[in-house]
Amino acid sequence: MSATPRRVENLHTDKGKVPVYATGIVEQPWDDYSADDHATWATLYARQREVLAGRASDEFIQAQDAMGMTPDRIPRFADLNEVLRDATGWTLIGVEGLLPELDFFDHLANRRFPVTWWIRRPDQVDYIEEPDLFHDLFGHVPLLMNPVFADYMEAYGRGGVKAHGIGPEALQNLTRLYWYTVEFGLIRQKDGLRIYGSGIVSSKGESLHSLESAAPNRIGFDLERIMRTRYRIDTYQKTYFVIDSFEQLMDATRPDFTPIYARLARQDSIPAGTVLDGDKVYQRGSGEGWASDGDV
Ligand code: PHE
Ligand code: CO
Repeated sequence: MSATPRRVENLHTDKGKVPVYATGIVEQPWDDYSADDHATWATLYARQREVLAGRASDEFIQAQDAMGMTPDRIPRFADLNEVLRDATGWTLIGVEGLLPELDFFDHLANRRFPVTWWIRRPDQVDYIEEPDLFHDLFGHVPLLMNPVFADYMEAYGRGGVKAHGIGPEALQNLTRLYWYTVEFGLIRQKDGLRIYGSGIVSSKGESLHSLESAAPNRIGFDLERIMRTRYRIDTYQKTYFVIDSFEQLMDATRPDFTPIYARLARQDSIPAGTVLDGDKVYQRGSGEGWASDGDV
């Protein structure tokens, strides 16, 4: 596989026209994907769809179906972009990998979602440390079809630009919100708890762990609590936060966070595995007992 970095000049952003450099946006080198690459996509796609039946939120499954993603080959960003444009106005852009925070926020604020162009190797189907095409495309992109979630992602991008200007602590608070919603969020449907977070939907192990293991806590969405809660990126989560709907998420995050950041700056962070008095705790797995509190 080899990328064909392309220099895109004068991209429109909320700051006007700015130049974007070759390291920023990469045209998806679709013709260069190998048979192994397509097979990895097919394997993961089929496996996750099976795992997610009855586990992912109905909104996620509906959105993924509506996009026309299929297991048979890695989708072309250009094809998905036509569908997304009509649904919510989002655009996928190819990238090499994680972006500097401010670039990432700026893309989201302008309804551009960065997608890693390369897919993991066949020996990495169960676990990979950094986001690849499967995580980004299968995990993140479907919910961009959902109008409310699409708005949330844009608002998050604008909030990120703002938090970046306030300082590192504000940025940390906001990053935790992304982590516990966009990446690892659960949602309560009429018929039970479901997954919507991308980090979960793209992982077989965490799909099962998040819903069926007795170990993690499942706590009702609480903005300030989330912003104070630490997390680990290299193990399954110890706590998941549960929303009732994407509207609830939108409403709870609409207020100006500036005074919240100021207030949180005077409070301690919370270890990832802690249950506090007064937490609204949702269904636990079939096992007994609570996860031990707090060493993250
Ligand atoms: N209301 C937030 C702010 O003032 C912006 C935001 C919206 C952040 C949605 C995250 C998610 O910073
Ligand atoms: Co992600």
